[in-house]
Amino acid sequence: MKKRTLAVCFLLASGSLLYAAPQKRIALPKPDLKAGKPLMECMALRRSSRSFSAKELPPQIVSEVLFSADGITRKDGKKTVPTARNKQNQRIYAFRKEGIYLYDPQKHALELVFKGDFRKYCGKQDFHAYAPLVLVFVSDMDAVGNTPELQALYAGNHSGSASQNVYLYAASRGLSTVVCGLLDRERLKKILKLEKNQMVIFSQPVGYPGK
Ligand SMILES: Cc1cc2nc3c(=O)[nH]c(=O)nc-3n(C[C@H](O)[C@H](O)[C@H](O)COP(=O)(O)O)c2cc1C
Repeated sequence: MKKRTLAVCFLLASGSLLYAAPQKRIALPKPDLKAGKPLMECMALRRSSRSFSAKELPPQIVSEVLFSADGITRKDGKKTVPTARNKQNQRIYAFRKEGIYLYDPQKHALELVFKGDFRKYCGKQDFHAYAPLVLVFVSDMDAVGNTPELQALYAGNHSGSASQNVYLYAASRGLSTVVCGLLDRERLKKILKLEKNQMVIFSQPVGYPGK
């Protein structure tokens, strides 16, 4: 009897440990394409907000944020955002409390790349550390554009399109968001173990408004 009780306690404890550990892969629910406010209203509501609650976002919202930023919308693999020559050379990292994930648009899933809370490195303002989801836009700079100037123009355009989609989605769902260029790109590059040709462009926290 004692042994059985111990075994149950062990199972419960290991269960809660498993629950606390970051999932290696988070399959995101399908985005609801009928939800939200009309587009024109979202444009009028779009704004930068720097007031965030630490409250977790439900999987449906996380799904729709990532879909807005980089989701696949067509059979040929094209997306919610345009890219020069359809190079799709932008990747989106999702920083969460439990770890850093890379968004996989094909699977519409988040793949764990590093365990741990690195959100505070996503910007120089306090809310980066506690916003429940911080997107980081990374560009493979040499994929498109013949000069560094053109490469920078294209990278800025790609992350600009993605961030504006997220802004409009946030407006539609009453969420807070702000695109942030004020960040230590070299430090984030090291954290993400990026290749030489990859560059962090912007970050963008998303969450419920703070009180
Ligand atoms: C490229 C870019 C970088 C920005 N960087 C920051 C930033 O680091 N921190 C911040 O609080 N806001 C940042 N912003 C938000 C701007 O301050 C904001 O868009 C501007 O004040 C206009 O306000 P609105 O977005 O509400 O229209 C950035 C905006 C852009 C487009």
